[in-house]
Amino acid sequence: MTKLSINSERMRADFDALAQFGSTGDGGVQRPSLSETHLAARRWLREQIEKVGMEFRIDGAGNHSAFLKSPNYQLPITKTLLVGSHTDSVPYGGRFDGALGVVAALEVLRVLKENNIELSMNLEAMDFTDEEGTLVGLLGSSAVGGHLRAEHLQKPRGGRDAFEAGLARAGLTEQGMLSVERPARSLAGYLELHIEQGNRLINAQKNIGIVTAIVGIMAYRLKFIGRADHAGTTSMQDRRDAGQGASAFTLAAREIVLKDFPRCVANVGKMEFAPGGFNIVPASVVVSLEFRAPSDDEIVQLDHALIERAKLEAERFNLGLEIEFLGKHSPTPMSQVAQKAFADACDELGLSHMPLVSGAGHDAQSLAHLCPVGMIFVPSVNGASHSPREFTEWCDCVNGANVLLQAALRMAGGAA
Ligand code: GLV
Ligand code: MN
Ligand code: MN
Repeated sequence: MTKLSINSERMRADFDALAQFGSTGDGGVQRPSLSETHLAARRWLREQIEKVGMEFRIDGAGNHSAFLKSPNYQLPITKTLLVGSHTDSVPYGGRFDGALGVVAALEVLRVLKENNIELSMNLEAMDFTDEEGTLVGLLGSSAVGGHLRAEHLQKPRGGRDAFEAGLARAGLTEQGMLSVERPARSLAGYLELHIEQGNRLINAQKNIGIVTAIVGIMAYRLKFIGRADHAGTTSMQDRRDAGQGASAFTLAAREIVLKDFPRCVANVGKMEFAPGGFNIVPASVVVSLEFRAPSDDEIVQLDHALIERAKLEAERFNLGLEIEFLGKHSPTPMSQVAQKAFADACDELGLSHMPLVSGAGHDAQSLAHLCPVGMIFVPSVNGASHSPREFTEWCDCVNGANVLLQAALRMAGGAA
């Protein structure tokens, strides 16, 4: 039998159609999770699934999927191999992050269906809810992985109001979110194609990156609390300026990472000054802090170093400090079985490959304790991501989708 291949034009048409939802007109998209544009994109996705006669599924976390049943289908014995990614984007993000993995997963299922390939397990192409964390982060996959807890939903990192509004728009409930855990015995694995979001593949001139591990991520909201005063009449000595403390901490975080944590990164992505005025000494500043590390040891030590420094800077500027822990995703190794399936698929297709650690978070992290998970990356031109500058050559997208298809066939154990 000739080797199966994905249909490049059909996948391209899907990719371009999806990029229209929330298009910013400069190559970017605005599709925050459960926004109107995101929900419209998901209605479109459902149409594509149903148009080709595949079964559409949605769970209590809003995860959307196409389901291809094995002829062996028997509940609860027949396992399911998941493939997928996410259709939500960061604010003013790129059109490849997540979207490529979703259209490729859909295309993999379509190719198998139209060629009447009957596998000994089910295949499910999944669009996970809120991977990007404009609401909670890895929300849909954490729900499936069974580590979403009611308390995580009480203080979502995007704020409780945005979360409630998203749920209402999508017709979802917290109760529903907390009831979609899948048992390990039902899952055969999870595979994802994604853009690299860095420039290691381009620099090394390799076609495919095989992910060996995903970094751990921790997030905090830190509130430096000072006192509002007249910015013209209060002497510099008498001020309790929350802006100074927050800024000093931000600069110190950079120094700490550069000096002592060479494999880690830290980011202050947002600072909210209150009351916020030219002529008012800032009374409080809320700092959104996130940091990442490839090992548990490093993330624990960096956590300690950053929080101690925040306390020190608060003291130095005579400020109060409120520390709100928002969550941790541990560093996650990818399964050897999945890495081998990807490497064999690359070799069979004549594509060069290299191992890579992912500095970005991905849904695979949430499922690794349940089943073998694996990811591949395709080259990002200029390494750009979370920006409208995000770009991957179409031939690389097609290569990635073909590797995904061949690896899925390997992981699904062949025909029924
Ligand atoms: C997701 O893209 C993340 O790593 O923040
Ligand atoms: Mn992504
Ligand atoms: Mn992303």
